[in-house]
Amino acid sequence: MQETQHLPIALFDSGVGGLTVFKALARRLPAENLLYLGDTARLPYGTKGRETIIQYTLLAARALVERGVKMLVVACNTATAAALPTLRREFAPLPVVGVVEPGAAAAARASENGEIVVIATEATIAGGAYQEAIQRIRPGARVRGQACTLFVPMAEEGWMEGPLVEGVARSYLDGLFTADEPAHRPDTLVLGCTHFPLLLRALQNVVGPSVTIVDSAATTAESVEGELRARGLLNPGAEPGAWRFLTTDNPDRFARTGGLFLGSPLTAAQIELVDL
Ligand code: DGL
Repeated sequence: MQETQHLPIALFDSGVGGLTVFKALARRLPAENLLYLGDTARLPYGTKGRETIIQYTLLAARALVERGVKMLVVACNTATAAALPTLRREFAPLPVVGVVEPGAAAAARASENGEIVVIATEATIAGGAYQEAIQRIRPGARVRGQACTLFVPMAEEGWMEGPLVEGVARSYLDGLFTADEPAHRPDTLVLGCTHFPLLLRALQNVVGPSVTIVDSAATTAESVEGELRARGLLNPGAEPGAWRFLTTDNPDRFARTGGLFLGSPLTAAQIELVDL
């Protein structure tokens, strides 16, 4: 058991977006060793078909599990929505935590009037995982989903704010927040893609200050802590945990954009190029 407690928690995403979850986890559990994989060679996942997403997700997860980890965090909504049950079956008894349930819980908690908009990739919205998860936690909630495909390359490019970002956001969101009677206007916007928190400021400008924007990073970190505690797997060490980063393409680019997501600089020397 003691040896297992020192193993890293593995996280993965199609790109650098999952670093928003990594950051929340590092803040909540500073003693944990963390191993992150961004499958940048295959990004984006969100426009791919379900079978392809499952296949890519299994490849990424296997590469991490083979290195010896105590938990797998699917820090990608698209991969969670398509492949979470498959991953749990494939790697049992390894605990596997996804980001959709925690994101749905955050939304259900934040909304006062139960009118909720979820923005995510095309695949996540088409699969309906968020819509179902929110309604399971909060029956009666009205959940509308909107695919925002362009937000992923924009975030990967480091375009976080400005007129162009807001213009794109307006074209995706305007109708959703203005069409209804005031009482039925959505009061909560869920960022159902781990890339989207980077655009937070621009999105808040577009939807206005009365809309609460939630993402799954903090609630996922909370779930991870709960799951590790329940299994007696929290790292008891007092030293800060070690961080390792893997990417399937271009470590320089990963370092550049990853640093933006992490909020602290990364160098290519910290990032290992791997082949799945
Ligand atoms: N970060 C991924 C998510 O949370 C999506 C990015 C992609 O399309 O690959 O869904």
